[in-house]
Amino acid sequence: MKKRILVTGGAGFIGSNLLLHLHEKYPEAHFLNIDKLSYASDLSYLDPIKGSNRYTFKKLDIVDRKAVRDIIRSYKPEGVFHLAAESHVDNSIKGPEPFIKSNVLGTFNLLEECRQFWKEDEGRWQNNRFLHVSTDEVYGELGEQGAFSEDSPYAPNSPYSASKAGSDFVVRSYFHTYGMNVVTTNCSNNFGPHQHDEKLIPTVIRTALNKNNIPVYGKGENVRDWLYVTDHCEAMDLVFREGTTGETYIVGGNNEWKNIDLVKKICDILNEEVGEGPESDYKSLITFVTDRPGHDFRYAIDASKIKEELGWKSQESFEERLRETIQWYVKRYNK
Ligand SMILES: NC(=O)c1ccc[n+]([C@@H]2O[C@H](COP(=O)([O-])OP(=O)(O)OC[C@H]3O[C@@H](n4cnc5c(N)ncnc54)[C@H](O)[C@@H]3O)[C@@H](O)[C@H]2O)c1
Repeated sequence: MKKRILVTGGAGFIGSNLLLHLHEKYPEAHFLNIDKLSYASDLSYLDPIKGSNRYTFKKLDIVDRKAVRDIIRSYKPEGVFHLAAESHVDNSIKGPEPFIKSNVLGTFNLLEECRQFWKEDEGRWQNNRFLHVSTDEVYGELGEQGAFSEDSPYAPNSPYSASKAGSDFVVRSYFHTYGMNVVTTNCSNNFGPHQHDEKLIPTVIRTALNKNNIPVYGKGENVRDWLYVTDHCEAMDLVFREGTTGETYIVGGNNEWKNIDLVKKICDILNEEVGEGPESDYKSLITFVTDRPGHDFRYAIDASKIKEELGWKSQESFEERLRETIQWYVKRYNK
């Protein structure tokens, strides 16, 4: 592993899991986390490494080009894991501007400042790598059949996915135009500890525990692939170290669920973990609400490339991971 790693968005869900994962796995490396600390951040997730001399946090907005330049030039990163982004589709529908700024302009600022700094030295230019973390949502929606692969055409439907698609194209252009050492991952829905309350799994758990209605969009027929966040961390690590420059890698859990079936599954596990008997089945709280505009019907992932080229695989035990995740949120919400 490289010695100085810059992680952007490390105070968010995936970034904080990634930092804990990498910090433990690579005792020779130092990690700098830059994050603007939005509503979605929680630095306490990083308490386990807070006192480490191999970890530093700096509050920084990647939309601020000068701040990005200064940090790149003072830290001299050998590698970047770029996760900072506005990430919630519903928020992008209500107000798209921060998504375009953080996700497109922010990505450009980082890439351009890395390019300018790295190109000053031939060794640095060749060896230093920029990993861009993106989403399967850039490919739009699927019908009942098929799965996204790296060759799927881009067809983003929400301002969020459009902003991520835009950032993917900027990254792509830095490889084709400048020969910069970039790699991109596009993954499916992550689940696990540290996710913000607004997302589906935390929302179901929180509303159920509060005995409020559990909101489900439309009829709950939309299908998502679910990837455990630690499996995703391993995939990012692998692509960062061994992926082919300029390539993209799709990452998924091979684990499709209709939203309504997943919500019922969470209720069943909650009934077992904290339920008060058959009279108070959490499933009775499920309430269908007006569908999200432009709600993609189905996402599915063909992860053959990362499996065959890099030997990545996801863990088999979805139900166990889901139960652990639920236990984590029950503890959080019952505090
Ligand atoms: N969560 C998922 O299921 C999922 C799936 C596919 C891809 N992704 C991608 O993974 C990355 C991380 O997602 P997440 O779920 O951890 O999101 P998150 O919202 O939990 O965390 C994002 C972090 O980025 C920071 N950030 C946002 N804008 C910033 C800016 N301008 N400057 C500095 N920091 C900024 C926020 O403060 C936050 O801490 C994103 O790029 C997202 O698009 C997430």
